[in-house]
Amino acid sequence: MAELALITGASSGIGREFARIHAARGGDVILTARRGDALAALKTELEATHSITAHVIALDLGAKGGADALISAVQKLGLAPRILINNAGFGGAGYHITRDIAAERAMIDLNITALVTLTHHYAKNMVAGGGGRILNVGSTAGFLNGPYQAVYFATKNFVNSYSQALDIELSDKGVSVTVLAPGYVETEFAAVADLTDAKMVKAGGATAHSAALAGYNAMLSGRAVKISDPKLGFMINWVFPWLPRRMLAKMVGQTQMP
Ligand SMILES: NC(=O)c1ccc[n+]([C@@H]2O[C@H](COP(=O)([O-])OP(=O)(O)OC[C@H]3O[C@@H](n4cnc5c(N)ncnc54)[C@H](OP(=O)(O)O)[C@@H]3O)[C@@H](O)[C@H]2O)c1
Repeated sequence: MAELALITGASSGIGREFARIHAARGGDVILTARRGDALAALKTELEATHSITAHVIALDLGAKGGADALISAVQKLGLAPRILINNAGFGGAGYHITRDIAAERAMIDLNITALVTLTHHYAKNMVAGGGGRILNVGSTAGFLNGPYQAVYFATKNFVNSYSQALDIELSDKGVSVTVLAPGYVETEFAAVADLTDAKMVKAGGATAHSAALAGYNAMLSGRAVKISDPKLGFMINWVFPWLPRRMLAKMVGQTQMP
């Protein structure tokens, strides 16, 4: 039987697909996000389809102390996940100086602070308990600078960098850290980020299932980085490094605009 997995941002998109994939392998799940009704519906679906147990913890992970509250709630249930999937996150488009600073800070609180708090806690427990796996959802944005989504791209640069560094630190301690870097994926992400008119979104993207499956399999094989869009992966690894930085940043900025 697969290990118990804690999955953040499980109420929609890529996170919901991680839960479906893990449950289909026979693994119990702890589902968390703010929307308790969506999590309850997913619990019902997964328990009816697979013989697994799904635990629901509805809370705001981006709130002050949100990650600590999740850790306490998991402890209260007497659970010790051996898989952590840090998936919750959001973006926000526009000129940085005209965007609300509270929204920019909320992005940092969820995309970075909560992810680091959960990773730090569960990685320590996994090392003490003999091993485990961590999958952090970064982004191809995390290898780039993103005008008109400056803070989002910067948060994902943090996730990509932090995950790869930790993977080295923990490699001889039985814990792997994988970062999934998707290109554009058709989820609620674009609407939340106010990107529905952006060129990137209009061009269409991957399904949430394909992105989640690529990340999940990479996690199981202990891979450090998985770029789930092969064409974008080729550009990031072999083409973009040769371009002048400013030119590349301008090109990326174009994809974020209507
Ligand atoms: N879609 C893309 O193009 C794309 C590309 C690269 C990377 N990603 C990354 O993939 C991850 C999943 O995004 P998605 O595309 O699946 O978008 P999504 O459908 O909008 O899902 C985001 C998830 O995060 C949860 N969430 C948001 N704010 C939260 C908060 N304050 N507290 C707790 N949970 C919160 C949402 O649940 P509630 O609203 O119920 O709280 C939802 O379950 C994100 O980290 C995103 O940055 C997405």
